[in-house]
Amino acid sequence: MNIPYGKQWIDEKDKKAVLDVIGSELIAQGPKVEEFEKELCKTTGAKYCVVVSNGTAALHLATLALDIKKGSEGITTPNTFVASANCLIYNNIKPVLADICPDTYNIDPVEIKKRITRKTKVIIPVHFAGQVADMEEIQQIAKKHNLFVIEDAAHAIGSEYPDGGKVGNCKYSDMTTFSFHPVKTITTGEGGAITTNDNMLYKKLLLLRSHGITKNPKEFSQNPGSWFYEMQNLGFNYRLTDIQAALGISQLKKLEKFIKFRKKIVKKYNQAFQDLSSLGNVVLPFEKTPNSSAFHLYVLQIDFRKIGQYGKSRKTVMNQLAKIGIGTQVHYIPVHFQPYYKKHFHFKDGNFPKAENYYDQCLSLPLYPKMTDNEVNYVIDSVKKVLS
Ligand SMILES: Cc1ncc(COP(=O)(O)O)c(C=O)c1O
Repeated sequence: MNIPYGKQWIDEKDKKAVLDVIGSELIAQGPKVEEFEKELCKTTGAKYCVVVSNGTAALHLATLALDIKKGSEGITTPNTFVASANCLIYNNIKPVLADICPDTYNIDPVEIKKRITRKTKVIIPVHFAGQVADMEEIQQIAKKHNLFVIEDAAHAIGSEYPDGGKVGNCKYSDMTTFSFHPVKTITTGEGGAITTNDNMLYKKLLLLRSHGITKNPKEFSQNPGSWFYEMQNLGFNYRLTDIQAALGISQLKKLEKFIKFRKKIVKKYNQAFQDLSSLGNVVLPFEKTPNSSAFHLYVLQIDFRKIGQYGKSRKTVMNQLAKIGIGTQVHYIPVHFQPYYKKHFHFKDGNFPKAENYYDQCLSLPLYPKMTDNEVNYVIDSVKKVLS
């Protein structure tokens, strides 16, 4: 057996979609990019969408589009991939972290309130593992203090808010970002997207994705001829190719199926690990609103001290599982533990006790729609053995 913690699902239809574009005239910027954006608008319910080269680029551009003054502050969670905080630094905004809720592992609105200063300009909640953050409360805080909100939904395409709306509809935020890395729910190889309902932001994002260059004569300061273009802002080349967009369109058609399969595996895991949970040895994933998470990850919190007679370290558990072909992962090393963050922003161990306590105990088990019943059962039996 070789069961990684996450894996893409690519079928013949995906391959055909990619091959059709590779065989066509336009392999970089063609009609598929816009088509993918339209489909993402339909999936999320947002008015506008801009696809980009990866989820980090999506966060970078979303933050840049807000024109936030240098030296301002932005608040995000320590329990995330570093990209959610790095996007602030790219824009000369100081990253401020707010501790998590111990049940959902998402940023805690109460902790956000404690971190707000006159310099705070933006909040970046992350829908960790697919479970949505407390967006209504975050929106209220943002409104009260006149702050922007960018949702990092790298884990959460297809997840739902408690009101039934889809993540990415931007009901509670200015923009939402996605990642289409292969371990994510749908993939374009590398890829990302930003959704918004704000036409001004949409136009800015389109410019920033492509060097800040406009080719629209109506926006020119002069128009000497058909060759002309104007760079009006400092942007980047963060474009997604038509090849990738074609894959994205094809993948998106399977989103509901992918999520259904993920949920089925989660249910099986939850039932199987119930006894360990009753003993207090593990904490199962908690869903604040039942059936709302798209479940990018299945995270167990494990009391490693309680395993066997003498306890076992996480390293031992991971090694024992790896030896029998089961990949596990740790999501995430808290952002403030990273040497760069300690050095430049003076974070210290102990700053965010709930995120740190969670980090000590978390372990992500394999979860991807292509897992067979056999593989799921093998993981269940093996994990139970290793944790007993
Ligand atoms: C929460 C979160 N935000 C942002 C990113 C960045 O996405 P990408 O890898 O597509 O740049 C990731 C990727 O792992 C992520 O998990």
